[in-house]
Amino acid sequence: MLRALLNIFMPHTTPLIELRHISKRFGSVVALEDVSFTLGSNEIVGLLGDNGAGKSSLVKILSGVEQADSGSFSVNDTSVALKSYSVKMARKLGIETVYQERALCENQPLWRNVFVGRHKRNRFGLIDVAYEKQATETILKEFMGLRGAGVSADACVAVLSGGERQGLAIGRAMYFAASAVILDEPTTALSLTEVSKVLQFIQQIRKAGRSAVFISHNMRHVYEACDRFVILDRGRVVQELNKGDITLEGLSSLLTGLACGATPANEHMESGEGE
Ligand SMILES: Nc1ncnc2c1ncn2[C@@H]1O[C@H](COP(=O)(O)OP(=O)(O)O)[C@@H](O)[C@H]1O
Ligand SMILES: [Mg+2]
Repeated sequence: MLRALLNIFMPHTTPLIELRHISKRFGSVVALEDVSFTLGSNEIVGLLGDNGAGKSSLVKILSGVEQADSGSFSVNDTSVALKSYSVKMARKLGIETVYQERALCENQPLWRNVFVGRHKRNRFGLIDVAYEKQATETILKEFMGLRGAGVSADACVAVLSGGERQGLAIGRAMYFAASAVILDEPTTALSLTEVSKVLQFIQQIRKAGRSAVFISHNMRHVYEACDRFVILDRGRVVQELNKGDITLEGLSSLLTGLACGATPANEHMESGEGE
């Protein structure tokens, strides 16, 4: 009751997602060690760290692809059972993930890509094609701002540029009522123009009152897009900062410093772009 009242007057008091003391191993590799992470309502959080820091592992746990070994987890103040958490359950709770690779299927029309795995069926059990095309058109026009003649729900993914493909994947997540969109390296391998499109799509997540977790190797992209930064180093959270508390240069040198302090085994890895 008190919490409900607090939420009305202070909507940011309850995080949208809260992970507490999460650990994850892959055989003998410790991917995450005692990681606590929160994502607030209408907040864009940047997840930073060198290769192997555990960013993707954290994202996979959030999106239900991998299960944590220990810790606890709640979404909207409701506790989630770690062992039965799945992609399906994540989606039910409003957590949608956009992966850089396999975001969309190349040789399928756009509308099929939007609804793949969760088609809208009519009462005969058949795919409601008209409905799906209409919804896809809405994403293309309203979310992505594509009004040209060439792009329709029937078009193939090939007509979209790299940034637009990420845009469709983000628009799809929003369409399926995501309260949190998780973006793992959405700007990697894109040209400058395409990157700015993706950064704009991320701003639309914020404008729509939703939240996002944004992972990128590119400090500039993360700095521009995010309200807060969480830095991982070898499976642990080593720093959390609000954007107002650090400059882009400060953030970059912080990460360079971490990379320089790395163990000899991963000293050759760069904190710059590319995997
Ligand atoms: N499926 C897996 N099997 C074995 N080791 C893994 C697997 N996924 C990740 N790891 C290991 O866990 C650590 C963290 O990886 P990852 O979460 O992908 O880091 P990041 O995304 O920050 O580069 C790395 O040492 C990586 O090799
Ligand atoms: Mg990764």
